[in-house]
Amino acid sequence: MIRFTVDGREFDAEEGQTILQALDAAGVLMDGVDVPHYCWHPKLSIDGSCRLCQVEVEGFSKLQIACDTPVTDRMVVHTTSDRVSAAREGVMELLLLNHPLDCAICDQAGECKLQDYAFAYGVARSRTREPKRAAKKRVDLGPTIVFDQERCILCRRCVRFCREVPGTGELSVFARGDRSMIDVFPGAELDNPYSMNVADLCPVGALTTRDFRFKARVWNLEDVPSVCSGCSNGCNLYMGVASNRIYRHVPRRNDAVNDTWLCDAGRLSYAEVGAAHRLDQALARDAEGMLVARPYREVIDAAAARLRRVVDVKGPGVVAGVASARGTNEDLFTFKRMLDALGTEGAYVALRRGESDELLVKEEKAPNAAGARALGFAEAEQVVERIRGGAVDALVVVGSELLDPGLLGSVDALADLDTLIVIDTHKSDLELVAHAMLPERHAAEQRGTFTNHSGRVQAIAPGVEPGWEAYEAGAVLAHLASALGLASFEGGYDPVGVSKSMARSVAAFEGIDLSTVGEQGIALRSADGGG
Ligand code: FES
Repeated sequence: MIRFTVDGREFDAEEGQTILQALDAAGVLMDGVDVPHYCWHPKLSIDGSCRLCQVEVEGFSKLQIACDTPVTDRMVVHTTSDRVSAAREGVMELLLLNHPLDCAICDQAGECKLQDYAFAYGVARSRTREPKRAAKKRVDLGPTIVFDQERCILCRRCVRFCREVPGTGELSVFARGDRSMIDVFPGAELDNPYSMNVADLCPVGALTTRDFRFKARVWNLEDVPSVCSGCSNGCNLYMGVASNRIYRHVPRRNDAVNDTWLCDAGRLSYAEVGAAHRLDQALARDAEGMLVARPYREVIDAAAARLRRVVDVKGPGVVAGVASARGTNEDLFTFKRMLDALGTEGAYVALRRGESDELLVKEEKAPNAAGARALGFAEAEQVVERIRGGAVDALVVVGSELLDPGLLGSVDALADLDTLIVIDTHKSDLELVAHAMLPERHAAEQRGTFTNHSGRVQAIAPGVEPGWEAYEAGAVLAHLASALGLASFEGGYDPVGVSKSMARSVAAFEGIDLSTVGEQGIALRSADGGG
């Protein structure tokens, strides 16, 4: 390690780090030490093109760009001198020369670095009398991104991202001088699975996502930190929430999980929270065999009575539980506890699978497959054989993954069950054969933890509330267990309390609960990963 000084404060740096990298690693960049920057990004190569990050370094006659100046031992840096301020004003004046200054109608307003830095480091007046450069507005770069050429400041973050992260390289800078313009190559379009990250990277309002464009003002959104539930990578994100509605997902930095990226599928997955086919009422089969809406407590009691009758007549060996790997650790822990208390022979977890890539997207399309394994759930393939072989009379299922082609494929094998109790966020074909259906909260509506593919336990938080009576799957199962008369399920369901109980009784989770995981997660004690 080497030591250097910035504005009188001493910092450590690693050999080879630039001034910006060292300040970023120390956690003070723009949060204690202000070195404004546009083209530099912690996860991209250095471009050195915007010149906004100039600082004074003792021993150098000229100002240096902090993004590309390596720290040396006992280096002394000044970021607030008159020379630095004059350089920033000059850079801002040049950047604003051709900028349309259409902040009032720009979607980036409220989170625009050009706006922020113009206020903080720029000058209020422009000295030019020349007309501004005219360029194209609303250029479709691909299915997800709309480009405003006039707003672009040519920081080239988007170009480097496409080349360096997904490796697709659709974008480049064309022409020269003040005609320079970002564009896609002829005949190409920006259409890779990570395309929407360029909107996050764009420090101004040049690149916006078609999905979020003009939907909400960002200062009206609350950023709720959570975790994507699209696959087992568990990418960290913020839900942008207003008026009990999620307007967008944006990535949240976690260098151990997703750096600063999010795949497009995960980014758009918030749509499932408000989907029209949400299961929004408790249902029970009536005397005519019709599935009808009934009060939640009535359905819980009816389901418990059916389950109790099967256990009393045939014993717990014919009862099985199939969890969903999108359930939280707390949901799964409660489910396992209920099945153990009933004396059943197996707890299974159903897992959706799909495409993967080398970057973030994992094959397991659920956020908590590793958590389910750590909690003792077996793969659902095993229960499929038992169901088909007639060894199961009563089934408690969370989610509909059991119907996936690699498992049952349809409801046919479930039609003859004595009792089928379904807990789910959305409606599915299980409606055709279920005896009771109970609505469940979506991950965006509950507290809890997921364990990602590498064994990292991460917290999720509720961003919105369902507009109907719905509980976490763990709570529904606790209500069911209580109605069954199983010991120690009275008193409701508290995710924090359950996580503490899990930390005490499951060795892999020792010391890991909702009060200790923090915003960046914590590794399982004995994670064997998977995924
Ligand atoms: Fe250093 Fe752009 S951030 S030159």
